[in-house]
Amino acid sequence: MNKHIVFLTSALLVASACGGPMSPQDRLTVNDEKINALIAQMTLEEKVNMLHSKTNMSSAGVERLGIADMNYADGPFGIREEGQPNGFMSAGWTLDSATYFPTGSALAATWSEELAYKYGSGMGKEARLRGKDVILGPAVNIQRLPVGGRTYEYLSEDPILSAALALEYTKGCQDQGTAVCIKHFAVNNQETNRGSVDAQLDERTLREIYLKPFERAIIEGGAMSVMPAYNKVNGDYCSENEHLLNEILRGEWGFKGFTVSDWGGTHSTMGAMLHGLNVQMTGSNYLGQPVIDSIATGALTEDLVDEKVRQILRVRMAIEAVPEGVANTVMTSQPECQAIAREVAEKSIVLLKNEDILPIKADVKKIAVIGQNAVLKTQSGGMGAGVKALYEITPLEGIRRRAGEGVEVSYAPGYKATAFRWGPAPAELAPLEARSNDEPADPALVAEAVALAKDADLVLFFGGTSKSIETEGSDRKNIDLPCGQNELVKVLYAANRNLVTVLISGGPTDLRFLEPVSPAIVQGWWNGTEGGTALAEVLFGDIAPSGKLPFTFPRKLEDSPAYAMGNFPDPNGAGGDLFSLMFRPDVLKMSPEERQKFIDSLPKPVSKYTERFYVGYRWFDTKGIEPMYAFGHGLSYVVFSYHDMKAKAGKDAVTVTFTLKNEGEMPADEVAQLYVHREDSQVEWPMKELKAFKRVSLNAGESKTVTLTIPMKELRYWDEAANAWALEHGDLELLLGGASDDIQLAAHVNI
Ligand code: BGC
Repeated sequence: MNKHIVFLTSALLVASACGGPMSPQDRLTVNDEKINALIAQMTLEEKVNMLHSKTNMSSAGVERLGIADMNYADGPFGIREEGQPNGFMSAGWTLDSATYFPTGSALAATWSEELAYKYGSGMGKEARLRGKDVILGPAVNIQRLPVGGRTYEYLSEDPILSAALALEYTKGCQDQGTAVCIKHFAVNNQETNRGSVDAQLDERTLREIYLKPFERAIIEGGAMSVMPAYNKVNGDYCSENEHLLNEILRGEWGFKGFTVSDWGGTHSTMGAMLHGLNVQMTGSNYLGQPVIDSIATGALTEDLVDEKVRQILRVRMAIEAVPEGVANTVMTSQPECQAIAREVAEKSIVLLKNEDILPIKADVKKIAVIGQNAVLKTQSGGMGAGVKALYEITPLEGIRRRAGEGVEVSYAPGYKATAFRWGPAPAELAPLEARSNDEPADPALVAEAVALAKDADLVLFFGGTSKSIETEGSDRKNIDLPCGQNELVKVLYAANRNLVTVLISGGPTDLRFLEPVSPAIVQGWWNGTEGGTALAEVLFGDIAPSGKLPFTFPRKLEDSPAYAMGNFPDPNGAGGDLFSLMFRPDVLKMSPEERQKFIDSLPKPVSKYTERFYVGYRWFDTKGIEPMYAFGHGLSYVVFSYHDMKAKAGKDAVTVTFTLKNEGEMPADEVAQLYVHREDSQVEWPMKELKAFKRVSLNAGESKTVTLTIPMKELRYWDEAANAWALEHGDLELLLGGASDDIQLAAHVNI
């Protein structure tokens, strides 16, 4: 073993071994005696009944013993409308309109732990009003692929940022008495063949990148339930993955709650029972009668069933069931949650570029808003993760309200957004090939838009994607701007050089064509119920933009790591697009068992992670590839200056202090980011890694002293040979600034 390296045990284990305070997970065991007494009164059938779905969104309790059913709600960015007991079709309720919170990547763009807590608490609160016990969220998979269909649901490409926000969401939600079900555990980083793909990666990458957000939410946040993902990891389905569920989750992290398979993501009785699943949600009946039969033959023991029931009951007892007659008596969406959604939206908007055109100047009297994304609602679509919002302020509405009298705001669609193709029933789903995002511009719509642009003082062009392009169930084919937007913006710019582009999307887009013809670019996200209000506040300069990118905007898709390494798309093309196959008429007619056999008969798709831990900016920095906009980038209407950086390495943490000054003339927030670069290292590291960050609010001209702390354990790496976390001693260069490519100050410490 290298003499620079010392192995550390997790602080948590040390604390409990010394009889210190109880860990958040251990707190779940306080009712174990009562729970054991209950289990002693249950029949085998009653116990097994708790191990699978009762309806599409619940699993059974035992009424006779006063144990309520467990009610689930999607998540992750709004309490989903009530569905029919046997599926996702609307139940047609009237009080189930919820608050539409900004989607995951927008939350992450705030880089605010405080807002993630509030967001989680808003979700938890509205879940209770609907009688829900468990939110199917937060969704915290790492954004490995720019094309990822669920990038908008997920937080960041960076594990430290994702983990910090996942932790606060978890605490906020559970403090309201609603359990989280953190998902999708794990390495569910693509939608292509998500139900069968085998993600093959090394242990260091798994631990340092893909498991981080789960680890913190579970160990520090006490996340009560976990959703194993659809895919396989290193050969085994996540819902029966011994390494993930038994060794790491329960063994190392001390998880005491229960696991809930993704919908239809259970694959066998023995696998699920022996390797860590508690509840099978929907699909073939693996955790019902077959469990009883297996106990009869001696293949399984009733003790194992008891243990699984105990883990479910721990959460059942920690989360008080909402009595019937109390739930669903008021509208789900609450004013204080709408206020949270607005605050998140205000702080998420990222100013990517600004050639002194924003904020909108007082002499602008005629604004042409061009682009259908200015009027499209984004609350639903994208398959599962949608909300029936009580209201949603679109960008155009927000701009019109804020502009007020004296400013004329005209609108032309400019393009026709790719239609939302996910109907309520699978049969209404158009074939995936039809989800083209390369339609040419429509000459009539372009002509109408150009006429408006010519006549305006300012053009606000709304581009980006839509929820039929970025969606669960499939990845984008590319990150091109759809519907002929590149062509459109070029002619708009020729007609009027006072042009601002606002991108409405959840993930990154290819801006190579748009950037030269856009004097200002704003990333506006799918920003929730108050998205239009927040956007108008930023455009008109009522508030300074303060969002920072939670992922890299590559110049082109091929620059990003999984593409550059030839890992995605699957070079062997194995399996085809399983998701579209599932909706082939003959496959739709199959029984669940026949369908499983059919899936098993297909070639096995694989996703190799040979880019290892060089995900996102870790790759771009290390390889010296310049992105279009770097991770952490985001401009303001003011300039911040960084001074007096001091760094100190203690036993448990590295501490950095500095002074941050707002040099501008309006209040503004800055997100200070601290990266670590290793010097003379014997271990392989990316060029630099984010290790701490803080959002700081400063009045005009104000300075503040800021402290950032990196816990020593966050500086460890996973030593594959020793199969343990290890700390490499040596020199660290600490890089401080407002973006991964905007380092203002540096300091050195020795650890
Ligand atoms: C998704 C989950 C979701 C579940 C229930 C699945 O298709 O992957 O994220 O919670 O459906 O709607």
